[in-house]
Amino acid sequence: MLLRNLVLILSTGLAYAADSNLTALVNLFIGTASGRNGGSGGNAFPGAAVPHAMAKVGIDVDTAPRQAGYIADNSSITGISLMHDEGTGGNTNGGYGIFPLFPLMNCASSSCPVGLDARKALRAAGADAATPGYFTTRFVNNIKIEATSTRRAGLIRFTYPNTNSVNHVVIDLTNDLGRSFEGGQLSINTAQQRVKLTGIFLQSYGTDNYTANACYDFRVERGTAAPAASAFSDFATYQSVSASSPANITISPNQTTLSFPFTTSVNRVQAGALVSLNSSVIIARFGVSMISSDQACANAEAEVPTWDWTSVQEASRLKWEDVLERVPVDTAVEDPTVVQLLYSSLYRASLVPANLTGENPYWTSSFPFYDALFCSWDTFRTVHPLLSLTSPREWSEIVNAYIDGWRNTGFIPECRSNTKKGYVQGGSDGMPILGDFAVKYASHAAALGVPTNDLYQALVDTAENTPPDWYMVGRQNTAWKTFGYIPTNWVDPSGSTGLATREASRAYEYALGDFAVRQAARALGKPAADVARYANRSMNFVNMWDPSVTSDGFSGFAQRRFPNGTFAFSPPDACSPVDPSPHSCARGTDNNVGFYESSSWEMSFFAPHSMSTIVKLMGGPATFINRTNHYFDKGYFQAGNEPSFEIPWLYHYANRPDLSALRVRQVVYKSFNTGIGGLPGNDDSGAMAALLTFHILGLYPVPASKQLLIGSPLLSSFTLKNNVLNTSTKFTIKNFDKASLVMAPPAGSRVFVKSITIRGVPSKSLCWISFDDVVGGGEIVIEMFSDAAAAAAAGCGQGANVLPDSLESGGFV
Ligand SMILES: *[C@@H]1O[C@H](CO)[C@@H](O)[C@H](O)[C@H]1NC(C)=O
Ligand SMILES: *[C@@H]1O[C@H](CO)[C@@H](O)[C@H](O)[C@H]1NC(C)=O
Ligand SMILES: *[C@@H]1O[C@H](CO)[C@@H](O)[C@H](O)[C@H]1NC(C)=O
Ligand SMILES: *[C@@H]1O[C@H](CO)[C@@H](O)[C@H](O)[C@H]1NC(C)=O
Ligand SMILES: *[C@@H]1O[C@H](CO)[C@@H](O)[C@H](O)[C@H]1NC(C)=O
Ligand SMILES: *[C@@H]1O[C@H](CO)[C@@H](O)[C@H](O)[C@H]1NC(C)=O
Ligand SMILES: *[C@@H]1O[C@H](CO)[C@@H](O)[C@H](O)[C@H]1NC(C)=O
Ligand SMILES: *[C@@H]1O[C@H](CO)[C@@H](O)[C@H](O)[C@H]1NC(C)=O
Ligand SMILES: *[C@@H]1O[C@H](CO)[C@@H](O)[C@H](O)[C@H]1NC(C)=O
Ligand SMILES: *[C@@H]1O[C@H](CO)[C@@H](O)[C@H](O)[C@H]1NC(C)=O
Ligand SMILES: *[C@@H]1O[C@H](CO)[C@@H](O)[C@H](O)[C@H]1NC(C)=O
Repeated sequence: MLLRNLVLILSTGLAYAADSNLTALVNLFIGTASGRNGGSGGNAFPGAAVPHAMAKVGIDVDTAPRQAGYIADNSSITGISLMHDEGTGGNTNGGYGIFPLFPLMNCASSSCPVGLDARKALRAAGADAATPGYFTTRFVNNIKIEATSTRRAGLIRFTYPNTNSVNHVVIDLTNDLGRSFEGGQLSINTAQQRVKLTGIFLQSYGTDNYTANACYDFRVERGTAAPAASAFSDFATYQSVSASSPANITISPNQTTLSFPFTTSVNRVQAGALVSLNSSVIIARFGVSMISSDQACANAEAEVPTWDWTSVQEASRLKWEDVLERVPVDTAVEDPTVVQLLYSSLYRASLVPANLTGENPYWTSSFPFYDALFCSWDTFRTVHPLLSLTSPREWSEIVNAYIDGWRNTGFIPECRSNTKKGYVQGGSDGMPILGDFAVKYASHAAALGVPTNDLYQALVDTAENTPPDWYMVGRQNTAWKTFGYIPTNWVDPSGSTGLATREASRAYEYALGDFAVRQAARALGKPAADVARYANRSMNFVNMWDPSVTSDGFSGFAQRRFPNGTFAFSPPDACSPVDPSPHSCARGTDNNVGFYESSSWEMSFFAPHSMSTIVKLMGGPATFINRTNHYFDKGYFQAGNEPSFEIPWLYHYANRPDLSALRVRQVVYKSFNTGIGGLPGNDDSGAMAALLTFHILGLYPVPASKQLLIGSPLLSSFTLKNNVLNTSTKFTIKNFDKASLVMAPPAGSRVFVKSITIRGVPSKSLCWISFDDVVGGGEIVIEMFSDAAAAAAAGCGQGANVLPDSLESGGFV
């Protein structure tokens, strides 16, 4: 009993039970089904990683799409590589996947099958297994692979079925996931059993390349003995005879170096090293670095000094327990599916952004450096607001990394991927992230080391200045400020360029970005003129509204607009899931609709800071409700993409939270499950995971504001712990009804919110709750009931300000 009650105090200041085992509830394979042939394609990463890790070790399949390297099918495996993205779209071949290892046996080192196609192997059925901090699989030839890791280093163990013989490991220099090698080198130090590698590769979502480095040290394990040094039985380098026939490979025994000069086009050569050790267990310790291969070795030595597998894996597990314990629930009482969805989602929502502090090759800074901001368009809606609830310690580092990006480039980064600028999808959506931080943590910013004057200047510069190429960072502010919308077919006299598509959805996002500046200006005590200026601009989304367009009996839709003010028509259902004719709504010049990964039917709902305006434009609450219903019933809802995220909750703005409660249930049970196909689309750096978390908690965050919509949780109770405020807020769902945990809750199930009591005080609003209350400690009681008519009649409650805020109707003061 004494042991069970033992409490560990972590450096975070949070305390949790030592026997906490929430990691056992994480299913790392949710969202790993192939996206081929219309599959769900969550692109989730199931390998070994610590929270916000740089090193993400996992196996790679030989078929595309494979954005995260792994796919839960029977594809062949080409290696186990050191870094990966989480849930992203972009290049279907994937990004990172650098310097894979591959175990070989039963071959002479001078003639082993080292090339990709020659070596690739199938996994034994059902062999893949993973828990936070650990991944394992086994090939059909019975070689077992295991991995565990720290932030920039880790251990990979190969266990071969043949004992008392020499086994081999390929160390692949050139094959990243994208097969995008542009040059690099490798060296083998036989005295240390060490291999150092440097390579230049293309980023997966952008136009640039990046340089990565790794360091491998090899040891053997004999019996139960600790890893021990052992001379290589053999070593060699290998390379294709020519880049034009990459599969024809020559092995050069006793060679210790390889070098390929940088080429501006991808070099198809396959090359690497092969080391051979007389042991049935070979362990590779690795380090990664963006600075140098020497730093990669130093990272490995510092983070995995003793090669102690158990302690590395347990340290990783405990880091994850710390993350998961920020949302404790009674796992014995709650619905097991909801519990698994919750902890698997919390897990994936903390894999990225990746902490590359100390690994910034581009500028010297005392501020943190984070990668995989891929993209802020995906993550501002749910990932960052979730961090704000429980994890401001980590979040403040990430926010500082955004600000430092501005400090050193002039603009808030939007889609940093593989350490370089990625494509801008819509607005500059780091803006709502910084605005959110200012609103929620201004009074703690100094203690957290976030300079708020810099934060504000980053927002203003990004809101005012136009970069030479706003396709890579920033916004087309010349157009936004001249027209109050983003015109179609306009040549910018300033000479600044970008990709002039997605005009309508960019305008909606620019408006939200300006709202974020307005919110930060208020929170940080900036001049009233600033507040007014950005409030005014944030309402310009109305300029995209063409009242004359009708669809399915509803009128008024967002449309593109020419510089002369005339609207450019495109069908409101274009690019919706039920679009009768093919349209492109990607970034490219073939997008002649004006919307990005969304339809006018969907984007016409997007003004989270002034939904009362949208309700009015659509004809008032009754028509708004019908239109929202129709959007779902007709199939315009695109569950797998971000612009749809908030729409199940929008009935709140028409005073009908009862309808949101039912709609959120429908979306959760229709679109999410615990299978490999359990995500409706790409996980998108945890965006989908954080969305599901909010749905489960019965909360939805309003961007760059202290308001959260509140609804009908899928749990009977949960607690939110905040690792800076040191608060613990318990939510008790009184009269919680498990019968409501279905796609269509039966009549009589208690799915509606009857009352909300915050630390003993009844809340006037049944529709929103303040961030300060959600993180304020004490107990929040949400009382449920089943009376649909009474719930519809009660709406958001009685009195002023019970509806969630909208700027146009005087909110956010
Ligand atoms: C939270 O706890 C930590 C560690 O005990 C302490 O340093 C910090 O000041 C506390 N924060 C607040 C806001 O009280
Ligand atoms: C956690 O639970 C899993 C599955 O029940 C079990 O295998 C593992 O040993 C447990 N770990 C700890 C540290 O209790
Ligand atoms: C892989 O699975 C697919 C679909 O189940 C099947 O058609 C195919 O034969 C399998 N391939 C191998 C190599 O097992
Ligand atoms: C490998 O080591 C074992 C003993 O551990 C020995 O019996 C065997 O001969 C060695 N094989 C080679 C090829 O060196
Ligand atoms: C790629 O890398 C090389 C060498 O590091 C560099 O000279 C070049 O400018 C980089 N960028 C592009 C777009 O090729
Ligand atoms: C591989 O390259 C060697 C050397 O250029 C050549 O002799 C051989 O025919 C090639 N083999 C194949 C299968 O192309
Ligand atoms: C590699 O070096 C070893 C040890 O010096 C030697 O025995 C072997 O013959 C060499 N192999 C080749 C192919 O040169
Ligand atoms: C990120 O890395 C830095 C440098 O090691 C460390 O101080 C910081 O705690 C890390 N942050 C997180 C969230 O892991
Ligand atoms: C914004 O400012 C312009 C110019 O002063 C004014 O015409 C417009 O009505 C303002 N818009 C809002 C929503 O206040
Ligand atoms: C505005 O410009 C568009 C595109 O050039 C043109 O088709 C339309 O006729 C113009 N409208 C007016 C009122 O001039
Ligand atoms: C909403 O839809 C209902 C059912 O189709 C219909 O009876 C009602 O008139 C509609 N209300 C509005 C304002 O469109």
